Amino acid sequence: MSNPYKRPDRFTKKAKAEGYAARSVYKLDEVQRRFRLFRPGQRVVDLGCFPGSWSRYLIQQVGKNGTVVGVDIEEPDLDGGTWIHRSVYEVTSEELRTALGGSADVVVSDMAPRTTGNRLFDHVQQIELADRALLLATELLEPGGSFVVKVFEGEDAKDYTDRVKAHFDKLKRVRPEAVRKNSREFFAVATGFRG
Ligand SMILES: C[S@@+](CC[C@H](N)C(=O)[O-])C[C@H]1O[C@@H](n2cnc3c(N)ncnc32)[C@H](O)[C@@H]1O
Repeated sequence: MSNPYKRPDRFTKKAKAEGYAARSVYKLDEVQRRFRLFRPGQRVVDLGCFPGSWSRYLIQQVGKNGTVVGVDIEEPDLDGGTWIHRSVYEVTSEELRTALGGSADVVVSDMAPRTTGNRLFDHVQQIELADRALLLATELLEPGGSFVVKVFEGEDAKDYTDRVKAHFDKLKRVRPEAVRKNSREFFAVATGFRG
């Protein structure tokens, strides 16, 4: 069977033409077109930011008066943001708040573990990352703020989205067009952080 990751689809070609490091930028772009979460001047945290396509998009959205702070175990080669080159489990909300210059308007997480092919193991690892993102988001967000998080579908996904929902006024599950057909990921878009 051919490997779908090797075939350049229209999002891969578009990312290359528009200078983005990854096609995943079009997942965030669809979220933005639908929910209008990002605005000039905001402070945004990007968890799992490497290779930097979401960060680059966010830097453009928040403009010169905004701030983007990214965290990843790999460092993106990108100007215009602050990069914390460490695991999300080793980063504290105090550190992120200092880098941001205040609390966050939006926290996004596209974090995923290195997948093993064992669906249950990958799911559990990914939900752990998503839970870490939720903890940091609840410590960092302004009341009214938003949280966008990648989730791997599986037996803990519903409990996870319920945990997210407990902190926000609204939660939507979104599967952007740019998500590959064989991928089990979706995004939880939570708005109206209750603080
Ligand atoms: C799908 S990629 C993110 C792509 C990124 N949104 C972009 O558009 O360029 C997932 C990222 O999660 C990161 N990641 C996985 N485990 C992590 C951890 N414990 N701490 C920080 N980042 C982690 C990986 O290094 C990887 O870069």
